[in-house]
Amino acid sequence: MALRLKLRLIRTFVITTSGLIVYTIADKFYEPVLKPALQLLDPETAHDLAIFAAKHGLVPKDKGKDWSGLSCEVWGRQFQNPIGLAAGFDKHGECVDAMLSTGFGFVEVGSVTPEPQDGNPKPRIFRLEKDRAVINRCGFNSVGSFLVSERLRKRLSDVRKAQPGVVGVNLGKNRDTQDAKLDYEKGVVAFADIADYLVINVSSPNTPNLRNLQQKNQLVDLLEHVIAVRDATLKERSPNGRPPILVKISPDLSDEELKDIVDACMQLSIDGIVISNTTVQRPPDLLEKKVAEEKGGLSGPPLNKISNALIQKVYKMTDGRLVIVGVGGVSSAEDAYDKIRAGASLIELYTALAYEGPGLVRKIKLGLSELLQRDGFQSVQEAVGKDVILSTVPYGMRN
Ligand SMILES: Cc1cc2nc3c(=O)[nH]c(=O)nc-3n(C[C@H](O)[C@H](O)[C@H](O)COP(=O)(O)O)c2cc1C
Repeated sequence: MALRLKLRLIRTFVITTSGLIVYTIADKFYEPVLKPALQLLDPETAHDLAIFAAKHGLVPKDKGKDWSGLSCEVWGRQFQNPIGLAAGFDKHGECVDAMLSTGFGFVEVGSVTPEPQDGNPKPRIFRLEKDRAVINRCGFNSVGSFLVSERLRKRLSDVRKAQPGVVGVNLGKNRDTQDAKLDYEKGVVAFADIADYLVINVSSPNTPNLRNLQQKNQLVDLLEHVIAVRDATLKERSPNGRPPILVKISPDLSDEELKDIVDACMQLSIDGIVISNTTVQRPPDLLEKKVAEEKGGLSGPPLNKISNALIQKVYKMTDGRLVIVGVGGVSSAEDAYDKIRAGASLIELYTALAYEGPGLVRKIKLGLSELLQRDGFQSVQEAVGKDVILSTVPYGMRN
């Protein structure tokens, strides 16, 4: 046999065998070995290791097929299922395809700031083990929009490698920027042609004064600007080809503040609202009292009811006319179903993934499919807002 052919055969054998080994390790050893090991490390090191594992194909893939009723169309885009990865996990767009292959229907990259910045000093992520919750005060650590947009562009240039799924980008501002509008403008320009949707994040509790951008006048001014920038950046594209613009809000708003935000979104025909970011509240029934004293945003189960109440309110206020992405404390199929029935068309999660590992995504999808079919729904879309009684007076005609 010619030497060349022999070498080719050996190469093929090595690649196939190592591929199989990696695949088997990922599949068989994630639960008993990698997951407990990650829990022993400090939360940010564990997170960095999880990203490294994902980048190198060491997370188990979802080999099942989703029930067809889970697929849905939102903003004219097809979602294979409504369960997405929330912002904060893949801040730098390093492992989008790996996370889509674990079964997520969509991934929200970010938050990305225009210029690279370190964020707050470490430690800045804390586990509340007994509450299955997390407090973080990361403060937008970001490698900056140039690097992240290059990564996403590269991924799209190789369609054979890119997993099917929707990829949104969540935009933040640099800590020391005085002109917030300019920072969001830079983010929109950097990602308008590669993101399936854009999220204007005005609700992180860890960047000074960021949440002030939720005030009505400031918000209208900011959103008008980013819409104009998106449209100017993609002049030649049909409205359907432009990325929808969403706003991510805080769960710590008064009713009046919430009404102002919703009015702004409706007035400007914003495409959707992400409810919600982490909370600065500390519910009295938290078990880990000492860790709860850490400054930062709380996520996980203690946020679940707070975010659900907000989702219901917004669905009711808008007669279901504003697309809601429901996030906060989802760790089971029941939690996802509750948010859908409260008015969310799409669901996101992060904290539960850190505790449960990627197998959770499949579990939630299977459970959600069962719950929907048990209640006679043919599709997830049919269940959206089913727990909300809408007003008989339409939006815009109420006081
Ligand atoms: C460590 C950590 C970092 C986060 N970073 C961001 C971020 O950069 N941008 C953002 O919009 N949300 C961020 N979030 C908030 C999540 O996207 C989500 O809104 C919140 O955690 C509630 O969902 P969960 O209970 O499923 O985690 C972060 C959350 C955690 C735990």
